[in-house]
Amino acid sequence: MKKVILSAFTAAIVLVACAPKASPAKTNSIMPAISEISSSQATIDAGHAIFATKCTKCHGAKTNYVTKHTYDEAKPVMASMAQKAKLTTDEIGRLSAFLVANAKK
Ligand code: HEC
Repeated sequence: MKKVILSAFTAAIVLVACAPKASPAKTNSIMPAISEISSSQATIDAGHAIFATKCTKCHGAKTNYVTKHTYDEAKPVMASMAQKAKLTTDEIGRLSAFLVANAKK
């Protein structure tokens, strides 16, 4: 009997240890990865227009924040701000192009 309990316990430990970890990409899933972001000037300009209109309803244009952080550093804040501004997936794509173009490298 002891053996059965012991092997069940061992199996449980193995299962827990091997369970997939929450991926960090998932937490910021609404913001695209840099590799997916357009670097076309037209998209960057369109993103700038979104930044200048939809992102200034509640506060001034946070240009300093954008230029002082890398895109990856800004992602969590931007994910929550994109939701506050109720951006569509398309708008988030364009805004991201603007953010990457102006982010700290
Ligand atoms: C519904 C209101 C609202 C909208 C729309 C909004 N924000 Fe914000 N934002 C806030 C509030 C509230 C704060 C926190 C207080 C502050 O810094 O003004 C904030 C803070 C920030 C910060 C500073 C974070 C920090 O840690 O210093 C940045 C950057 C930012 N917003 C960017 C954006 C961008 C980009 C958009 C457009 C996608 C946007 N915001 C749209 C309400 C909003």
